[in-house]
Amino acid sequence: MFFTSISVTFYVFTLITVVMLFWLLDKRIGPKPVFGYSLLVMTVFFIMMFAGRGLDIKFLWNGSFYLAVLVMYVFFLSVALKFVNLFFHLHPRMNIAVMAALILIVFVYGFFNAASTSVKRIEISSDKISRPYRFVQISDVHLGTESLHFLEKVIERINAIGPDLVFITGDFIDDHKLKPEELKIMRDMKAPAYFITGNHERYSNYTDDFFKDCNVIKVLDHRRRQDRFTDKVEVFGIEWNRNNFMNKRSEQEVYFDSISVDTTKFNIFLNHEPELYDRAEQEGMDLMLSGHTHRGQIFPFWLFVRARYKYIYGLYDIGRMKLYTTSGTGVWGPFMRVGSSNEIVEIDLIPEK
Ligand SMILES: [Fe+2]
Repeated sequence: MFFTSISVTFYVFTLITVVMLFWLLDKRIGPKPVFGYSLLVMTVFFIMMFAGRGLDIKFLWNGSFYLAVLVMYVFFLSVALKFVNLFFHLHPRMNIAVMAALILIVFVYGFFNAASTSVKRIEISSDKISRPYRFVQISDVHLGTESLHFLEKVIERINAIGPDLVFITGDFIDDHKLKPEELKIMRDMKAPAYFITGNHERYSNYTDDFFKDCNVIKVLDHRRRQDRFTDKVEVFGIEWNRNNFMNKRSEQEVYFDSISVDTTKFNIFLNHEPELYDRAEQEGMDLMLSGHTHRGQIFPFWLFVRARYKYIYGLYDIGRMKLYTTSGTGVWGPFMRVGSSNEIVEIDLIPEK
């Protein structure tokens, strides 16, 4: 069902893109070639994707994403250039040259942007604490798309920030070949950390073994849904909906009935997706941390992400609760970021007088 809807969407989108491209070139195209070209692009896409995944050929797997991004940019640039041509009539070859140059610039920029990570600092205050706390949130590291070397650099940056506590809000592991012992580099992280799963831990055959040698990691899941960090700060975490595909009661349904929230404490809620925020606020959470959206990762893909999630990036006020949705620390799929950045989030929690 999922792949059928993806296939239909991709096919229709490619078909419209081919029509737009020919329209830009002032050429007529009959229905047969339109369907044929679209089918060809989709076939290449699925061969690259399934052969890449099944036979574990990474450049084919990655190539399928670049192809999808290329189709998207050809579509948007065809529309934009057609609009430009209303005022300045360019030769069809000139249109193609401009499009090719812009796509090249965007891909090169997107690559270098994806290769850099910045620290985003936010400050929040509360009257529930008597001393300041410094937290760090990392999310969507996507080890697999990203390397272990990248993780080492992230750990160095976290140590330089010097937090009291680190939150890892899912989609950390994205590689079914990764071995638990390879994550021993997490021991270099000086601050303790809480971890919750995201959707990609599910695809990567994640097991508890991954963090068993990392003494700084506490996993929050259906066995331990909350944990006291200090007598003033309590951390809650919900794991990815592990039962959804089996039509069992999901973690989301049982979660809030099985935790106990002391509203005199500063309560932090970790949820990979920026969802359940209203319920979290009603239950007495003070801060919710999410990721997953990547802020769309590649412009203008955020349009689709925004259609799915209301709070796709930044700090939001949800009643008395603050919600921060990060754009993520790493990338997934094509190694590109356009209109968004990799970030490590530094959260300074200041006592309110
Ligand atoms: Fe995710």
